[in-house]
Parts: sequence; structure tokens; C-alpha cells
Amino acid sequence: MKKKTIGVLTSGGDSPGMNAAIRAVVRTGIFNGLTVLGVKKGYEGLIHGEIEEMQLSSVADIIHRGGTMLQTARSKEFMTEEGRQKALNIMEVFGMQGLIIIGGDGSFRGALELAKLGAQVIGVPGTIDNDIAFTDYTIGFDTAINTVVDAIGKIRDTTSSHNRANIIEVMGRNSGDISLYAGLAGGAESIIVPEVGYDVDDVCKRIVQGRNRGKLHSIIILAEGVGGAFEMAKTIEEKIGVETRVTILGHVQRGGSPTAFDRVLASRLGARAVELLINGRTARMVGIYKNEIADFDLEEVLKSRKEFSEELYTLARILSI
Ligand code: F6P
Repeated sequence: MKKKTIGVLTSGGDSPGMNAAIRAVVRTGIFNGLTVLGVKKGYEGLIHGEIEEMQLSSVADIIHRGGTMLQTARSKEFMTEEGRQKALNIMEVFGMQGLIIIGGDGSFRGALELAKLGAQVIGVPGTIDNDIAFTDYTIGFDTAINTVVDAIGKIRDTTSSHNRANIIEVMGRNSGDISLYAGLAGGAESIIVPEVGYDVDDVCKRIVQGRNRGKLHSIIILAEGVGGAFEMAKTIEEKIGVETRVTILGHVQRGGSPTAFDRVLASRLGARAVELLINGRTARMVGIYKNEIADFDLEEVLKSRKEFSEELYTLARILSI
């Protein structure tokens, strides 16, 4: 019988741990007697046939590296029916019988469309945003929040020296998880997320209360989905006269060596994705749900909204008074 051939690509925004996931796919595939093809630059590379066979050694020395060795893209052409048909044709030409997509929400929507055209696809959640339903964590989120916590510590030093407030804007698109987890771990005075919104008087009150207790700094973590950091700083200065600076962390959150947590998660999810392809499954997403590696219907995942943890949010508010 002919050896089964599968492909792997990374798509959308990169996230630390994607390399560990690629490594897991390639090595689990080869271990099980499959041929594994690496697709460069996401769906864009798929459409244009930027594909090469991966060997065990192709993924050596990458588990600790940030970014993605396969590179990634947000493909406009793949969003069209014509583009997706081209991608499917290329899969046939290369004898690719299954495809593993490591990426986020947008990448999974593309994967589902491919599945509807008849391709066998499995999604692996890789995004720093942690905004995918049916997985407690996405690959890259843990590294990103550790980067933010590190930044909070540094900003806290200078903020204390100058007796200022500092608004730190973090990524996450429409999800507040980076803000919530990093804010809790970093002891921020205020955590602002799109799921809850905010009242500037409450933010000001917390700053004043902290100062009255002798606090030298005030850290406000603001999710990019809420926005308006500079206006908020101006309002705080006008309302309570506290000098307020803004730090936009940006893409620093997407880079760096993945944490052990992200490497383990990526390894487990990548391996499970290959097993699903071997078992003939399609249109599934692998995830870590209630601490177990599991898989879910991709359409269901995309229809559902990731639950925001009110419990953590309330805890963070209590602990930062
Ligand atoms: O989805 C990951 C993410 O980093 C979001 O948090 C952010 O909104 C977006 O990507 C930034 O995209 P780009 O790298 O294309 O500017």
C-alpha cells in the first residue's frame, strides 16, 4: 500500500510554540510511516506550491525557537473560492491526503472551507490570543503572558521611582485573556478587558486609594480590543493629577523562546492531530479541555465563543484593591 502523505502549515499571526507543534507533527508522522510535507507561508504557500518533504532532521533544534520555521501569512487569495480551489488542486498534485493547520480563528475558518471541498483537515490552536473555544489554552498564550509579566515588573520599577501611573496596552484582538492573566500575575491595579469594559472613575479611584496607602506605582493593563490608551492617560491626569505614561507592548508579545508549558502543549496537540488524520478524521480541532487532550468538531468550535473567566476577573479585582 502506498504511504499516506500529509501536510502541515502555520497560518495567521505566529505564536511561540508553533515550531514545537511542527516538530511534533513531523516526528509523529514519520514514526507512523507517513510522508510529511511542510508548506511554507500558510495558505499562500499552499496555493503557490511552496512545499517540501520534511525529514526527522528538518525539525531538529527548533523546539526552543520562537516564530515558525515554515513562516506564515494572512492570505487574501485563499479567502476567495478560486483561491481555495487552487489550494485543493495543489494538494492533489502533491498527493497530500491530509493537512494540519496550526493557527487561530481565521485560519480555522479557511480550514473548514477546505474541508467542505473534500480535503481532510485538522486544526491545532496556535495564537497568543487564547480566544478559541474548547481549548483552555492556545499554543503561545503562556509565553506571551510571561513576556507581559516580565514587562510589568520592569515598568513597575520606573513607575515607582517617578511615582506615576502606567497604562500597558497588550495584544489579544477582541479577547481580554492576555490582559486578565498577565494583570493578575503581575499584580496590576486595574485590568481592562473588552468582555467587561471599564469606568474611568473606578480606575482613578483605585489609583488614589493605592496612593493613600503609600503605593508608589499604579499599573493599568489595557487590552487592545478596548483601545484608547492615550486618551485614558490624559483623562487620568486631568481628573486626579497623576502623571500617566503609556506603553504599547505590541509584537514583543509574539516572539521569544516558548515556555515549557507551551512546548509540552504544542507537542501533545501536534501528535494528536497526526493520530486523527491516521484515523481518517476530518474537520476536527485538537485542544486541551479541562486538562485533557481532546478533539472537537471544527464547525462547532468556530460557532462557539470562548468563555471569559468572570471568576479570575473578580479575583484579580479583589486582590488588587
Ligand atoms: O492574533 C494575534 C495577534 O497578535 C493579535 O493579538 C493582534 O491583534 C494581531 O495578531 C496583530 O496582527 P499583525 O501581526 O498582522 O499586525
